[in-house]
Amino acid sequence: MKWTGLNKLREMYLSFFESKGHLRLPSAPLLPQGDNSLLLINSGMAPLKKYFSGEAVPPRKRVTTCQKCIRTPDIERVGITARHGTYFEMLGNFSFGDYFKREALHWSWEFCTKVLELPEDRLWASVYENDDEAVEIWTKEIGMPADHVVRLGKEDNFWEIGSGPCGPCSEIYFDRGPEYGCGSPDCKPGCDCDRFMEFWNNVFTQFNHDGNGGYTELEKKNIDTGMGLERLACLMQGVNSLFEVDTVRNILNHVCRIAGVEYHDNEKSDISIRVITDHIRSTVFMTCDGILPSNEGRGYVLRRLLRRAARHGRLLGINRPFLFEICDTVIEENKGAYPELLEKADYIKRVISEEEKRFAQTIDSGMAMLSEMTDKLVASGNRVLSGDDAFKLYDTYGFPIDLTREITAEKGLSVDMERFTELMNIQKETARSARMAAGVEGWSNSDLLSSIPATRFLGYTTLSAPAEILAILSGDESVGSIPVGTEAVLVLDSTPFYVESGGQVGDVGLIRQPGGVFEVTDTKKTAGGQYTHFGKVVEGNITVGACNAEVDETVRSATMRNHSATHLLQAAVRTVLGG
Ligand code: SER
Repeated sequence: MKWTGLNKLREMYLSFFESKGHLRLPSAPLLPQGDNSLLLINSGMAPLKKYFSGEAVPPRKRVTTCQKCIRTPDIERVGITARHGTYFEMLGNFSFGDYFKREALHWSWEFCTKVLELPEDRLWASVYENDDEAVEIWTKEIGMPADHVVRLGKEDNFWEIGSGPCGPCSEIYFDRGPEYGCGSPDCKPGCDCDRFMEFWNNVFTQFNHDGNGGYTELEKKNIDTGMGLERLACLMQGVNSLFEVDTVRNILNHVCRIAGVEYHDNEKSDISIRVITDHIRSTVFMTCDGILPSNEGRGYVLRRLLRRAARHGRLLGINRPFLFEICDTVIEENKGAYPELLEKADYIKRVISEEEKRFAQTIDSGMAMLSEMTDKLVASGNRVLSGDDAFKLYDTYGFPIDLTREITAEKGLSVDMERFTELMNIQKETARSARMAAGVEGWSNSDLLSSIPATRFLGYTTLSAPAEILAILSGDESVGSIPVGTEAVLVLDSTPFYVESGGQVGDVGLIRQPGGVFEVTDTKKTAGGQYTHFGKVVEGNITVGACNAEVDETVRSATMRNHSATHLLQAAVRTVLGG
């Protein structure tokens, strides 16, 4: 086995499975498309669920992907340990009713030993306790020593999420050596110590779980495997932490350069360096995929990550917006596999820097205010920050509640969440009613829109043009896709749609994608220059990304006839001058 860079490992895996008849699909966006059960994509199989359940037909029965994933349940641990992160990539090979256990295990062995050249004697496997078939394949067919195959229970070796397709799994472990172990003679996969590192999970999706404890055999059996790319890179690069992996370390070095600090100089600054490094990776990819900072849902996750990173910047002594600068290194390290990062670089940096600037205006006074509040609490012997104080920090200083909770917890204090939630609900209700009263125009003042770049107007020279849907605003959030019948507001990078102004109504027309059609019933412009296309999906689904925007010519010319000659003249002059 030899040192291999993360980008090369991704390519080695995908091309290996292509050579086994798999179709390589690009990573799905982090924003789940047409799946409301998930806030963010969190595993390789998540965007493929429809193929496992039979709801949709896969483009091929064998598929391989490297999927961007976000997991935030452990966000408070990120930074504190060198193991936790919120962003990672998951390599996977999938069979939808095609090959099963035998091929999956043989190929995983071939990839580990022939492609990665991992020493055979350092590989171990765990299998579900009564899965004799998997034991036979590992020991009799592949030739793994019997004592390297460990049977574990349902908790470790049966993969399911709620109801639906599920099954036993077999995990592959790398023995890092006794120096990492606990010394127990019983130490083997499943032990809590650091010696055996699990890096590849092969799930044999062969049952359907009815959600009430009933399992029935699926007619067609599937394979779902998942291997964390960063974890594989740790193994291949002989490092102990994700932050030491080549591409991640380059981002970390950029953070250190800006802060003027060295990594491994002291534990306190290391925590902040790791927080920023991890969170800038997540937020660049989330922004690229159409998520915008907001106070709800996935937008809140993005805001929380960015503001947590900004606070750690302050702790490192960086007293200016800086996160947007680190975006360049994230993009540089990942542009080969994700060229969309390069295409949207300006947009990503703009969204992140706007959010950073917005928080920068209040972060110092907010942090000072919070210190004052906690000092008073401690002096009075009280250990609970009032909900009113937490709400004031949120409402006036833009402190996401989780950030306040985290900072107070660092001082051994807690927050009265009941009162905070009460105040939040009152505020949400007031904002909702205000939006309703303002009608669709309520969106124009939305916080969500303020980070999006101004739209380029193309309508002087054309009535139909290819464009990019940058954001879909529906309910109180920006979403990745919307199904037929949904009313929403689309924001495009450029548009031929003329906006309502000076008594003239906004253009109407269609925004088309291969998978759906959106009927635009009005177009308006915000103070920030973003064009908002109001309307409804009339066919299929509409998703963030490329589209064709088509103004309804008959309506436009009828409106134009009624419109002042001055405007027509201006338009003509602009056309001639190319303005
Ligand atoms: N679904 C399994 C996992 O997430 C294997 O891909 O671990």
